[in-house]
Amino acid sequence: MNYRTRLIHAGRDRDPYTGASSIPIYQTSTFAQADPEHLGHYDYARSDNPTREALEEAIAALEGGARGLAFASGMAAISSVFLLFRPGDHLVVGEAVYGGTYRVLQGLFHQWQLDVSFVDTRDPDAVRRAIRPSTRALFVETPANPLLQITDLRAMAALAAEHGLLSIVDNTFMSPYLQRPIECGFDIVVHSATKFLGGHSDLIAGLVVARTAEVGRRLKTIQNSFGGILGPQDSWLTLRGIKTLGVRMDAQQESADAIARWLREQPAVRRVYYPGLPDHPGREVHFGQASGASAVVSFELADGPAAVAFLKAVHLPLVGVSLGGVETILSYPATMSHASVPRAERQARGISDGLVRLSVGLEDAEDLIADLRDAFG
Ligand SMILES: Cc1ncc(COP(=O)(O)O)c(C=O)c1O
Repeated sequence: MNYRTRLIHAGRDRDPYTGASSIPIYQTSTFAQADPEHLGHYDYARSDNPTREALEEAIAALEGGARGLAFASGMAAISSVFLLFRPGDHLVVGEAVYGGTYRVLQGLFHQWQLDVSFVDTRDPDAVRRAIRPSTRALFVETPANPLLQITDLRAMAALAAEHGLLSIVDNTFMSPYLQRPIECGFDIVVHSATKFLGGHSDLIAGLVVARTAEVGRRLKTIQNSFGGILGPQDSWLTLRGIKTLGVRMDAQQESADAIARWLREQPAVRRVYYPGLPDHPGREVHFGQASGASAVVSFELADGPAAVAFLKAVHLPLVGVSLGGVETILSYPATMSHASVPRAERQARGISDGLVRLSVGLEDAEDLIADLRDAFG
């Protein structure tokens, strides 16, 4: 089946109990038991809920894994994966991972003696050098935020396999429509489904997919024990979002590509970061592991004041945190996603005060370009 067909029919494409075309929102905490000595598959909704299960089956099928699990947020999903490890275990993690991932590792998990080395995962030798006898996992994100640096998924999966590490990837920026890391050898895929999968900026959700049933079972035990589950209403919204992921992504990506090329011609723009541009570093690796460049474009203006003036002058884009919605969102890493990174370190990592990040939505590209042109003044 072609992928856009799979997006409609993955997992349960109708309610097995009623035939309803839309999986009902099973808004319940508990289930009546016919036999108190032998409980049925559904007993208590933290453990299993049919709406959440439909979403979990859909994302497992779409990523090509054995098991999917849905959590209350991307961070609940990522943190639940880290609960696989024990005090004294060491993880090698990409230095450009999402700020929340960095914070939970440096703050909470550090308290539980989980040891982490942050490295530039674009460089397989740097990753190899960071691996110790106590290393248990490798965690990467590609393209990474906000400069859209590319990590080679197959090289990372091979390194992890060679050293007996679990390989984990945050696939939020791409979604399984464009990139399926399990096919490149990864063990675990995590998502902030808040972004492209949900797609409408109307929910917070997280997903995990395990390649094997065994890792899936361990994660299911963590989900049920720790309890960071996604509720039925948001599971339903995520399922609904997934059905249009393909058409949304195709349209948003086409506009992002046009806008990235237009931005390159603008005198106010110093540099454009977008994996679809012919000279984007890592472009070849990216298109060897993904079928598109997605819809996030970052670009650099002269300095902080120029960026702030631009952010204040736009009308169509929503200025704020997040990405992957039907509406265009313009973010300012210096005060938003990377505010917790000290300025000097931000600068050293190439995140200048003039950098802005555009998540291109479903508006007409011409209208967006006209608005950006006006905002440049
Ligand atoms: C790449 C990435 N991973 C994880 C997260 C965290 O997800 P959530 O906000 O749904 O907890 C985000 C949120 O911005 C993200 O961009």
